[in-house]
Amino acid sequence: MPSVFIETYGCQMNVSDSELMLGTLAAEGYTATDAPEGADVVLLNTCAIREHAETRVIGRLTELRRFLKRDAVLGVTGCMAQRLGPRLLESDSRVSLVIGPDGYRALPTLIEGARRGERMTATDFDLEEHYEDVQASRFDGVKAWIPVQRGCDYRCTYCIVPFTRGSERSRQLEDVVRETEAVVAKGLTEVVLLGQTVNSYHDGARDFADLLRAVGAVPGLRRLRFTSPHPNDFSDPVIAAMAEVDTVCEHVHLPMQSGSSRTLKRMLRRYTREQYFDCVHRLRAAIPGLGLTTDIIVGFPGETDEDFHETLSAVREVGFDDAFMFKFSAREGTPATRLPAEMTVPDDVVDARFNELLQTVRGIARDRNFRRVGERCEVLVEKEARKGELLQCRSRDFKTVLIPGDKAQIGHYYVVELTGTTGSTFTGQVVRERAPLPMAGSTGP
Ligand code: SAH
Ligand code: SF4
Ligand code: F3S
Repeated sequence: MPSVFIETYGCQMNVSDSELMLGTLAAEGYTATDAPEGADVVLLNTCAIREHAETRVIGRLTELRRFLKRDAVLGVTGCMAQRLGPRLLESDSRVSLVIGPDGYRALPTLIEGARRGERMTATDFDLEEHYEDVQASRFDGVKAWIPVQRGCDYRCTYCIVPFTRGSERSRQLEDVVRETEAVVAKGLTEVVLLGQTVNSYHDGARDFADLLRAVGAVPGLRRLRFTSPHPNDFSDPVIAAMAEVDTVCEHVHLPMQSGSSRTLKRMLRRYTREQYFDCVHRLRAAIPGLGLTTDIIVGFPGETDEDFHETLSAVREVGFDDAFMFKFSAREGTPATRLPAEMTVPDDVVDARFNELLQTVRGIARDRNFRRVGERCEVLVEKEARKGELLQCRSRDFKTVLIPGDKAQIGHYYVVELTGTTGSTFTGQVVRERAPLPMAGSTGP
């Protein structure tokens, strides 16, 4: 049987796509391997979000030449493949396949062609493609990523995603529910619904509130999460569904990008600082104990010191539990690249702002976390921790908690007492195990 090795870069959507690719190939008799050496097919499922994401892949392609079997098929898939298309074939003679996110169904055929010596690009968008009949080969034994929407109809001026993933389209609610039932039947108890602006989900008849209620009610499911929502799509019915459905976890990853209305406007985020605060306020009012994390970009063209200080003050005002912070990266073809060159923020200024933001975010998270020590919460054991005889667990509000134990406990739920924190992650002591099936009203310890 031919073997395939897939290396995944970028966001959860890409992880989920890799699971679909592997599923497509498994159905054709391929087996997955965990190293490129000796594999018959090697695929890099790539990300294009920042320049750095792409330079890593270019470096990896060069490095792989040393490991590959002489007749191995090397393919580049995902967002960078979609963005660069045939340019990738021109720049690297070893690459024979370039396949965008809507082209994975044809993988077996394309690989056959590559085996015969063809070099091909498959980057047409297919607005009907949801890989409905493909059985994903899942990597994680505890939680399942379930895409509910592909593409994006927002046009944030810095962002390459609308170019690499095309227009927004949603799956039918019944299909998402069916997939959830299937993963629960396999013993996975947590589901993460995926979409670029996942709460704008609409299948023609049902919106995201309907989806949360339908998926959240699947028997045996214990935790329901979603990522990433857009602030403008948090309608009152969506927030009400989050508050009312027991399985929906008390955590929202709500990308803010900037705390300056002026910058937000040039980013075309379609909300102001105040509207973002209002969204946070409505979420927190409806969902007690809500964990809140975010994404922030520093150094967007034209960002002044004053704009940056508004981002710092917004971070303080909201009090995020954590944030992913990025230095602005100009992406070819995006509207931000057409802003006048004199608006570019110099590298040293970006670096200084980034470090200041990092310290601010960490300081706030540390204060919030230290106040939690001594509390009890429910955790799900996700995997073995990297060091020591510890297990890595996740609370409903998305805190990482390390507890002593062994890997037989992976997938189990416990009530733990938080015994300490580094400022970002916690240590915990098991108080008791939670019953295997959720009972009515059993979401709190
Ligand atoms: N669809 C998600 C974000 C996907 S990209 C959303 O809208 O929330 C993940 C994060 O990467 C974004 O939230 C943003 O903070 C960052 N990002 C996107 N494009 C970027 C760029 N050109 N430079 C730097 N960071 C970027
Ligand atoms: Fe990119 Fe904006 Fe769409 Fe998110 S909402 S994927 S940042 S264009
Ligand atoms: Fe990257 Fe594509 Fe995701 S650009 S962040 S892999 S949607």
